[in-house]
Amino acid sequence: MNSAELDWSNLGFGYIPTDYNIRCNFKDGKWGEIEVCSSETINMHMAATALHYGQEIFEGLKAFRGKDGKIRIFRLEANAERIRKSAIGIKMEPVPVELFKKMAIMAVKLNERFVPPYGSGASLYIRPIELGMTAGIGVKPSKEYLFMIMVSPVGPYFKEGFKPTNICIMREFDRVAPKGTGRWKVGGNYAASLTAGERAHELGYSAVLYLDPREKRYLDECGPANFFAIKNGRYITPASESILPSVTNDSLQQIARDFGIEVEARQITVEELSEIEEAAACGTAAVASPVAEIDDLDTGMKYVISKNGEPGEITTKLYNQLRAIQNGEVEDIHGWNTIVE
Ligand code: PLP
Ligand code: COI
Repeated sequence: MNSAELDWSNLGFGYIPTDYNIRCNFKDGKWGEIEVCSSETINMHMAATALHYGQEIFEGLKAFRGKDGKIRIFRLEANAERIRKSAIGIKMEPVPVELFKKMAIMAVKLNERFVPPYGSGASLYIRPIELGMTAGIGVKPSKEYLFMIMVSPVGPYFKEGFKPTNICIMREFDRVAPKGTGRWKVGGNYAASLTAGERAHELGYSAVLYLDPREKRYLDECGPANFFAIKNGRYITPASESILPSVTNDSLQQIARDFGIEVEARQITVEELSEIEEAAACGTAAVASPVAEIDDLDTGMKYVISKNGEPGEITTKLYNQLRAIQNGEVEDIHGWNTIVE
């Protein structure tokens, strides 16, 4: 792929081949040498645990070309720590934080020509994955692992970008179990979300707003993103053990506090949706995607959040500040960016 041919401002959220991916194998009880690879395929045993029993975890983070021309990776450390939690959660070998960081920086540097220009709205999505590689038929953890990082230039996750979209509540499917793998970034969670997600898309919704899988009383996650709302000027977001702790949500909460906005991470009932002023899905891919309307498909209730079809004022302010930090337009007071020298 010739990066000069890419229409940076009109990229979608899809896979675009780049020059290199970075790999490291865990074997005989230790991590080996870092390998730079230009092949897009991997060679694995047909009986690998990743294939049969879902020992697969991943991460998602982004690198941005700043106003000053420098490349910044947003919250590298937080993602390095989260994949360790995912690994421990499903009995995989945790990748050392320093190894993760080194490989991510290499992946960005070696594919520098694919980092979209400042002002295009696009970014370089960094996708680390870890796979259980040991061949076996018995249900037990692998002894060998492959950790690799691929990258791809991306535009907005929802094609509408920062335009409010409609989402729906559907009780027929759960993404995760109450004390299951939702808090970790495990591939199987996404397989479990496909049927509901596709049904929502067919009905014209951008995502499913899942309810807590135990009682179906409280809000949980919004498709592949966290959910937040503004109520009485406060930032409220669901707290639950089945939710993936979003780094974007954490960042937006901090930005909200920096602006003097109070933050509440707590259980939020479905009924409370009639009392909110703004809502959005947030995540690395979604950034902050404002919500226009939430339709409860089971009760027929329609919660109109954006009366004029525009993003809410506070959501816009938080979104702009997050983007400004990522693009190096304002001071990075929390030390979230790693500059790729
Ligand atoms: N929730 C789920 C299920 C996700 O897949 C993601 C995406 O990573 C998020 C939340 C948002 O997390 P983050 O902001 O760390 O990307
Ligand atoms: C992300 O926001 O990074 C995600 O992982 C969401 C999705 C593309 C799986």
